[in-house]
Amino acid sequence: MIDFSTHYLGLKLKGPIMVSSTPLSESIDNIRRMEDAGAAAVVLTSLFEEQLILESRALDEDLSRGTESFAESLHYLPELSDYRMTHEVYLEHLRRAKDAVNIPILASLNGVTKGGWVRFARDIEQAGADAIELNTYALATDCGQTSSNVEMQLVELVESVCSVVKIPVSIKLSQFYTSLPFVAHSLQEAGARGVALFNRFYQADFDIEALDVRPSLHFSSPSELLPRLHAAAILYGHLNVDIAITGGVHSAEDVLKSIMAGASMTMMASALHIHGIEHIRRVLADMRLWLEKHEYNSLWEMRGCLSRRSVPDTSSFDRGNYIKTLSSYSMRQTVDAF
Ligand SMILES: Cc1cc2nc3c(=O)[nH]c(=O)nc-3n(C[C@H](O)[C@H](O)[C@H](O)COP(=O)(O)O)c2cc1C
Repeated sequence: MIDFSTHYLGLKLKGPIMVSSTPLSESIDNIRRMEDAGAAAVVLTSLFEEQLILESRALDEDLSRGTESFAESLHYLPELSDYRMTHEVYLEHLRRAKDAVNIPILASLNGVTKGGWVRFARDIEQAGADAIELNTYALATDCGQTSSNVEMQLVELVESVCSVVKIPVSIKLSQFYTSLPFVAHSLQEAGARGVALFNRFYQADFDIEALDVRPSLHFSSPSELLPRLHAAAILYGHLNVDIAITGGVHSAEDVLKSIMAGASMTMMASALHIHGIEHIRRVLADMRLWLEKHEYNSLWEMRGCLSRRSVPDTSSFDRGNYIKTLSSYSMRQTVDAF
């Protein structure tokens, strides 16, 4: 019997696949089906900073941070009624999810600035969440804002959330940091117990007829896994935070690669929207076959075996790989193609 158990954020989990934040978990019935199919944990959809500020009518307190542009920006944001759940409904849903299944339930908070809204983290803890995933999707649009200023803002946010709860907090990170190892280390120092690599960058599409910019959400493809594998492989063994991979995990091979890179967990959203919740069961079965064939007894035996610390030729993770890849391209292929 192969040991699929793993750990993430200090939680002992029965397997390496969790369901990442998606509207699929807005149904308790779906959450039961996720557990039944073998999901080791579920992250609920996000509560947004902007929504919480609006809801709590804490505008005065939060706007007094001196950011008039923030007050202005609220005009561009969705109306309160456009958010999927009020925070009261969210907390009730969390309680019902906890009652319905035995696997850990993680809540998701989505925001960028520290402020009064982070106190909702405590409500989430009291409602029974096993952990909080903090999604820190932020875009720098101000020419006067330095990258270290963006990072400082992130670290302060993480510190303030970690200071109000005892449950573990993981950070769903953008991949666009100049020095990811430094940022991840700073988050560890700020109290984070894990990092989820990476947030997907949802670019709005351009409508050239209407001369407008429109939101567009498409599902991921497995090709999105590569930057995540490489980041996990670089971080593994250098930090005391657990690593989860979210983005491009669709098959057993994707999960195995992620564990080999050094991840403790993988997360799935798009694959479940495309193939259904039962897909988890199939992926776990495929993994079992592969592990048996290759005579592994547990995932622990392979974790990090393809990380930067373990491979003999680290140039695969450094500039050497870039040069090798470009040099290996044969002009002959191009000539033949034409
Ligand atoms: C329909 C949909 C809704 C999502 N909503 C959220 C959300 O509320 N909060 C969040 O942190 N991520 C959200 N995500 C992102 C996923 O949790 C996940 O990180 C991302 O889709 C990459 O994983 P995948 O390749 O398995 O889809 C959403 C994704 C999808 C497809």
